[in-house]
Amino acid sequence: MISPEIIEEIKYRCDITDVISTYVPLKRAGSNYNGHCPFHSERTPSFTVFPATRSFYCFGCGAGGDVVTFIMKRENLDYRSALEMLAKRAGIELPREERREDTGAIKRERILSMNRDAARFFHACLYDPNLGANGLRYLTERGLSGATIKHFGLGFAPDSFGNVTDHLTKLGYTAEEMSVGFLCGISKKSGRPYDYFRNRVIFPIIDVTGNVVAFGGRVMDDSVPKYLNTSDTPAFKKSRNLFALNYAKSKCADRLILCEGYMDVIALHAHGFENAVATLGTAITPEQARIMAKYTKQVIISYDSDEAGQRAANKAMKLLSEVGLDVRVLRVTGAKDPDEFLRKNGTAAHEKFKLLLDNSRAQFEFKLDGVLSRHDISIIDERIKAAAELCRIISEVYSEAERDVYIGVVSDKLEIPRDSLKNDVKRAMREREKSQKKEEIQAVINKTAGYGDRVNPDMVKNTGAVNAEENILGILLLYPENLAAVKKGKIELSSTDFFSEFNRKVFEEALARCDDTGKFDFSLLNEVFDVDSMGRITSMVIKRRRLKENGTELLCDMISRLREETRHRKNEGDDMAQIADILASQRNKLKKT
Ligand code: CTP
Ligand code: MN
Repeated sequence: MISPEIIEEIKYRCDITDVISTYVPLKRAGSNYNGHCPFHSERTPSFTVFPATRSFYCFGCGAGGDVVTFIMKRENLDYRSALEMLAKRAGIELPREERREDTGAIKRERILSMNRDAARFFHACLYDPNLGANGLRYLTERGLSGATIKHFGLGFAPDSFGNVTDHLTKLGYTAEEMSVGFLCGISKKSGRPYDYFRNRVIFPIIDVTGNVVAFGGRVMDDSVPKYLNTSDTPAFKKSRNLFALNYAKSKCADRLILCEGYMDVIALHAHGFENAVATLGTAITPEQARIMAKYTKQVIISYDSDEAGQRAANKAMKLLSEVGLDVRVLRVTGAKDPDEFLRKNGTAAHEKFKLLLDNSRAQFEFKLDGVLSRHDISIIDERIKAAAELCRIISEVYSEAERDVYIGVVSDKLEIPRDSLKNDVKRAMREREKSQKKEEIQAVINKTAGYGDRVNPDMVKNTGAVNAEENILGILLLYPENLAAVKKGKIELSSTDFFSEFNRKVFEEALARCDDTGKFDFSLLNEVFDVDSMGRITSMVIKRRRLKENGTELLCDMISRLREETRHRKNEGDDMAQIADILASQRNKLKKT
């Protein structure tokens, strides 16, 4: 079996849109791409590529899957050969069956050792008066003590094109290694390597096992780009790492503080909040959310206080609560970010920030604050608008008890009777359900047009149960840590719960391919399922991804619904059997006479 890591690497380098567009002309449609399906003949394009889930699906014929499925079907290759073809395209060497990962591992090790040497060099430069005086002055002026600089291994990249490359060359690293590791570029003219980081203070990024995996480099004035960062390398994936998690991981069992910037995190640690981490110059990713869920129960989002920061907080909230984390949002006051806040508050900084932490808002309160800050509720019109927005927000809350509490809060704040708010919330819920249903009905019409359900013939026997199964599988595959939870018995679900044979098989195969930590790649299913089956599985995942709620609570609800549906149907099935018996005996009687 090829490991999920390698498949992930292949899929990362073989962008699905790029690959498919070499076979099928694609047109952008919103965030997706449309084209004519290469797997059945059609006049209107119903073949869709979803870059966000890295999958494709044809609403006409139900073919679907990921880039591997596409190549298997289009090139008529088996799983392994399709992966080989893509690996070649990406310049990745596939490991041999037995000695897996060997080639990959050596490269990774090499880059890690080079990074460690580079980090030492950058750090030494900071303390070399001839090379790093400006850097040291900059960091000191930003309030960092010598101890903090050492703790984070901060450094300085000198203002020259050859310092780092010369040093690393002397240590035996090749130009190719340096360039793959993003420590140098290669000059187009001379073909010689030159330093990538120049005249910047350096923030090494260290993973939880203590490896230096990447660097961020900041300019010391207002020039752009403010930060240069290592791009993804064989030793580093930006979307899977968090700055300072190496320190925070043992201090965050109860709560973790999530910031936007390196400097925020460093300042927080220096002020005794060693449970702070930051994403690496991108919006938070689902992978990062899952990683946080491994280490902590509660995340306090502490982003910049400007509007962009607050919008980003909104997005982060959704991702974090989907992986089961208790999420709160903190807003720094009188400063643009936590770093500035701590500096401004001098000796009282720790205490003041602690207060912000204790006053951090839960999700609904945070959204409520947002709406109230945008509307002047002393004006009737504005009050109505605010109420409508809040009802929509409340309508997305899954639990009825929770909704009731929020309706009470809004009723008090806006002085609108509870009952009318309740009605509006109900209406918003109905509207959402209606549009979801419409989509689902359309999907079923598309799927069954002409030829019934070939992929899952059990569908007609118990639509309720099979729908529940599809929701369950959709969530499990969208967030594979749920698969691991099932495996460990933390979520009760077994293959005997499944009504339809097809979905049972999907469940069993996925479970067998997932390890205890939730490491699993959708692509592994290509080994056992054909393109139509992959299409069905893909549609389950896409459907779930479009919906807001994908948490454990809903998953467990769906499991009980599945059990209920199959229980009903058993009784009904017995009745049906009886009726069939009666009819048969009547027929026999009729025949005899
Ligand atoms: N960032 C980046 N590239 C940029 C700007 C920002 O990668 N051109 C990332 C960095 O990780 C940075 C984070 O986004 O730490 C937050 O950006 P910003 O708020 O602009 O920077 P600060 O961390 O506040 O940096 P400083 O206080 O040094 O200005
Ligand atoms: Mn800042």
